Amino acid sequence: MKPGDPAAVRDLFEAIAPRYDLLNDLLSFGLHRFWKRQAIVWLRPSPGQRLLDLCCGTGDLALLLAERVRPSGAVLGLDGAEAPLAEARRRAAERPWLPLSFHSADALATGLGDGWADGAAMAYGLRNLADPAAGLRELRRLLRPGGRAVVLDFNRPEGSPGLAAASQVAAFQRFYLRQLVVPAARAFGLPEHYAYLEASLRQFPTGPEQEALARQAGFRRVRHRPLAAGLMGLLELVA
Ligand SMILES: C[S@@+](CC[C@H](N)C(=O)[O-])C[C@H]1O[C@@H](n2cnc3c(N)ncnc32)[C@H](O)[C@@H]1O
Repeated sequence: MKPGDPAAVRDLFEAIAPRYDLLNDLLSFGLHRFWKRQAIVWLRPSPGQRLLDLCCGTGDLALLLAERVRPSGAVLGLDGAEAPLAEARRRAAERPWLPLSFHSADALATGLGDGWADGAAMAYGLRNLADPAAGLRELRRLLRPGGRAVVLDFNRPEGSPGLAAASQVAAFQRFYLRQLVVPAARAFGLPEHYAYLEASLRQFPTGPEQEALARQAGFRRVRHRPLAAGLMGLLELVA
């Protein structure tokens, strides 16, 4: 499939939703939970805030954020595919005390008002958007002045200046995607879905390119930080 094709991306996430959380844990050895917590450290969520989880999928970040803004705040998780949203709602229903709701929306045009959110997160979403620059513009529009945002995704090590052993990390990343991720996904009947990951990463902006796009989108403070020896990246933003 062609990375960034909205209908194909939606079909892909509809198809993998029932196995998504299990595969995430297996393929990252559980580390995605740690990387998501790193994203939350940057956001500094506090009680009473109104926060967004864009491309929320099955709701990992939204659930964590809702614990931090309760009881008076609110978290809204948005995603373009129904199957992950259904799983997110099922998980939220197990914790009915959380101020949390999930809705269907395109991250490029959410329909929410300017400055709606005190803060926003997007994990493994930006790489899937047809236009990442437009995604960052929408993210900026949604934040109140001074609001924080964080974007967590795979990183392209070869495009990270100052990263030690970038070419070895890139080689390991290719090995990981081709020899571990795709074969493991094959065991679940989803090989081509996970082969898409490497294709989408090839055309994903590097850390410095993401910083430039975020500045163009109007963010006042911008920093891309490699995580996990450069396999992942966190784009930390202030509106
Ligand atoms: C790799 S999953 C990440 C889910 C979750 N954030 C996580 O980290 O576990 C990417 C999600 O982005 C959603 N997505 C892709 N393009 C989107 C768009 N244009 N608008 C809203 N959601 C989108 C997909 O449906 C999918 O659930």
